[in-house]
Amino acid sequence: MKALILFSSRDGQTQLIASSIAKELEGKQACDVLNILDTTNVEWTQYDRVLIGASIRYGHFHPAVAEFVKRHQRELQQRSSGFFSVNLTARKPEKRSPETNAYTAKFLNQSPWQPDCCAVFAGALRYPRYRWFDRIMIQLIMRMTGGETDSSKEVEYTDWQQVTRFAQEFARLPGKTS
Ligand SMILES: Cc1cc2nc3c(=O)[nH]c(=O)nc-3n(C[C@H](O)[C@H](O)[C@H](O)COP(=O)(O)O)c2cc1C
Repeated sequence: MKALILFSSRDGQTQLIASSIAKELEGKQACDVLNILDTTNVEWTQYDRVLIGASIRYGHFHPAVAEFVKRHQRELQQRSSGFFSVNLTARKPEKRSPETNAYTAKFLNQSPWQPDCCAVFAGALRYPRYRWFDRIMIQLIMRMTGGETDSSKEVEYTDWQQVTRFAQEFARLPGKTS
């Protein structure tokens, strides 16, 4: 049986984290990493473990994440499962847990699926790659929240050791018999 990692990523950071977790799982379990937007049919019989990772943009996860969870609630619940979110609010350590990160707490609160493990990772701030409007908006948010405002900068806040620890926690989840 394999593990399935599904990601929702706009600028690539969540995909990078998903790939890093897959690398950590290598040797323990084979793993498929797929974009949740390209996932119409999942061959569930291949997988006994599933992880979903999604980033925040303007306060929201991509709607495809909640739609996927709603559609596949039963399959998710029957397997060992995890969820991680990626956002810039989590650059502050006190906002980096499922309970203290408002986006993640709200998602879990509303989700019909309750994952067996969950993490919040700080994402990346990459001003030069953003469209004009997004750059101005992010700069405004950063000014209001005491973050980086130099629009020539790219800053990666992701704590890769935290990602490794979470991958190990996910790999150690006991299997479920359905
Ligand atoms: C246009 C835009 C809007 C964003 N909105 C939020 C937000 O509302 N809250 C937040 O914490 N982070 C916000 N972020 C930060 C992203 O969540 C962060 O850059 C993350 O690394 C993106 O992951 P991705 O590349 O996988 O999409 C925003 C980033 C962009 C570019």
